[in-house]
Amino acid sequence: MSSSFFGTLVVALNDYLTQLDDLVQQARCAFAEAHTAEQLEAARIEYLGAKNGRLKVAQKGLGSVDKADKPAAGKQFNETKVAVEAAFEEAKSGLAGEAASADDGAFDPTEPGSRLVRGRLHPITQTIADLKDIMGRLGFSVAEGPEIEDEWHNFEALNISESHPARDPLENFYLATAEANGAAVEHESPLLLRSQTSTVQIRVMEQTQPPVRIISLGRVYRPDTADPTHYPMFHQVEGLMVDRDVSMADLKSVLRLFARSYLGEDVHVRFRPSFFPFTEPSVEVDMSRHDADGEWIEFGGAGMVDPHVLRSVGYDPEEFTGFAFGLGVERLCARRHRINDIREFYKNDIRFLHQF
Ligand code: DAH
Repeated sequence: MSSSFFGTLVVALNDYLTQLDDLVQQARCAFAEAHTAEQLEAARIEYLGAKNGRLKVAQKGLGSVDKADKPAAGKQFNETKVAVEAAFEEAKSGLAGEAASADDGAFDPTEPGSRLVRGRLHPITQTIADLKDIMGRLGFSVAEGPEIEDEWHNFEALNISESHPARDPLENFYLATAEANGAAVEHESPLLLRSQTSTVQIRVMEQTQPPVRIISLGRVYRPDTADPTHYPMFHQVEGLMVDRDVSMADLKSVLRLFARSYLGEDVHVRFRPSFFPFTEPSVEVDMSRHDADGEWIEFGGAGMVDPHVLRSVGYDPEEFTGFAFGLGVERLCARRHRINDIREFYKNDIRFLHQF
């Protein structure tokens, strides 16, 4: 993965409006979470401060919006200002009310309760739901597979031979079984945390006859050092379609529809020749958003299911063909929200998570 693919912010109208939306949401949370006068004052300075408050900064941002978009941006800015000020006033009177009722010691059941801050789904969970929804509309149903796998499903059936470097114990999380705990349990095959969701392709094809049209979303594990584009646990979205006369053109159409639905109408999809043991031909899938910086970003791999794989699950490759793809979910989510470090997803910093 290259870390340079997240671009710098360009202030297009849409981005500006999204920033304003986020600003209102975050200000509401900050004011609602203030339980003392000091906390509320700190939040006021952060959002409404005359010098460097975030509203002030957003107002300055108006300057870098395209001239033609200024009226729309300005209108939205004014509404944002009203909303943030109203949220502040509401929180202020809420605190004053609490203080008053605390003072005389009497409990007034007619007072409004203190406002609960609503939680929300984790951005990756939201992304998974979005992707299921998009692919569901294209006729793909959701399949699940275990996160603890055997070597057949993670490697062999996928045409990854014993000598392939991807099977190196240093590249995988093998489970310590019999030797480690001294138990006399013998596994037919060593077990490992799956390193890819391609395992689910095999599990589905072993159990169903074509036509097959599934996606599978879930966690995968690799002993990578965490950095802005890597994490030892991440999520993949796997797609598989097998039927008569399925072609590379179908693959490209599906991925294009998928990318446009999730990232926006202006997304382009590009294939670069590559190699995966379970597809032939194989491609790397790049996408680019032309409204932003136009950079091509690699999202994963794809290809036509290799005849060896079809044979390993008992399909006749003379009769059926199929395509498959596997893309990184964190990367899709990060691209959509312009996040440049996927470790943010797993720090559980509420200030980050509140933005989604
Ligand atoms: N499993 C591959 C990986 O984790 C990604 C992938 C490539 C999945 C090609 C596919 C495919 O289904 O056809 O790197």
